[in-house]
Amino acid sequence: MTPSRTDPLFILGIETSCDDTAAAVLHGTEILASVVSSQDEVHSPYGGVVPELASRHHLRNVLPIIDQTLHTAGVQLEQLDGIAVTCGPGLVGSLLVGVSVAKALAVAKDLPLIGVNHLEGHLLAVRLEQEVPFPFLCLLVSGGHTSLYLARDWGNYLLLGGTRDDAAGEAFDKAAKMLGLGYPGGRVIDRLAQRGDPAAVRFPRARLKPVLSRVAGPALSTACLEHSRRITGTGKYGFSFSGLKTALRQFLQTQGRTTFCDEDIAAGYQEAVVDMLVEPTLRAARELGLERVVVSGGVSANSRLRQRMIAEGEQCGLRVFVPSLKLCTDNAAMIAFAGTWRLACGQRASLALNASAVLPL
Ligand code: KG4
Ligand code: ZN
Repeated sequence: MTPSRTDPLFILGIETSCDDTAAAVLHGTEILASVVSSQDEVHSPYGGVVPELASRHHLRNVLPIIDQTLHTAGVQLEQLDGIAVTCGPGLVGSLLVGVSVAKALAVAKDLPLIGVNHLEGHLLAVRLEQEVPFPFLCLLVSGGHTSLYLARDWGNYLLLGGTRDDAAGEAFDKAAKMLGLGYPGGRVIDRLAQRGDPAAVRFPRARLKPVLSRVAGPALSTACLEHSRRITGTGKYGFSFSGLKTALRQFLQTQGRTTFCDEDIAAGYQEAVVDMLVEPTLRAARELGLERVVVSGGVSANSRLRQRMIAEGEQCGLRVFVPSLKLCTDNAAMIAFAGTWRLACGQRASLALNASAVLPL
């Protein structure tokens, strides 16, 4: 798709796919306002997101958050060129709140409506801040997803592989729950691990056998990847975190905290997750002959993952790009950005736009 409009557009983005209520106003790539209202305190006692509570809190928060965002941006609804909203994947009750509000505003103000895939928002977020030419490899790593995509162009993404069980963010959240550290766990474990020794406790790393052991030539052809995807469902590159989670449970039931401090346990656990993300990602980039790697999604906020991806990428001649922290975790600026591009290409959603819990990219 090629944009037919190149002038900067005023776009309101709305994001309610999980437990953050977010709105943002973009003018081209300039973020005029971006507000995120977190529900961490609501879900923390349960050690994970309670879908019914999440949608109820979105209902309560969404209009005040949109008002606040427009006010901060100094933009009236009438000045907007369109409204972009996350329509999937995510919790369907949560998504429906954003989609319904976006539709109502679009009808009331006669504005174009654009449905955005949450994963595309994460994948493109870094381009709000940095020039990252296509093609690039994207490790999309969040609470619900751990996948490798080959981003060939705007709107042209090939899934190379994904997790066979838990997402990496889920592995952090479940570990934090076992350690009694609350929800969401990734940030807490990251902070604790900074004071720990990553070598004090060694957890096992899952090493998945490549599905295709032999490939012709140094770089995989797209046809070969597509073939691998067809025969395996997820492709040549995969991740697995459920064994690590079980190893932590067994460790805590045996030696656990009587022998080691929480800082060392967190550092050892985090190191295992990071190892299992860095190695397959850099290998995929090399095998595909790519020069650029993007890491995005909530887990890309992890300080150890950022540091090791950049350093180890550099060692093998790859440039690694990570968004600033505010664009790693869920936000509406990334949704408005993906929506801006789609609207500029002439795409619009009808009022039949629906929320979809499972929406492939
Ligand atoms: O992208 P995101 O905000 O929501 C989803 O789309 O899932 O990602 C949330 C996930 C949670 O699992 C959270 O624990 C994790 O990102 N996360 C982190 C860090 N900050 C957030 N994981 C590791 N280290 C962090 N600093
Ligand atoms: Zn997300």
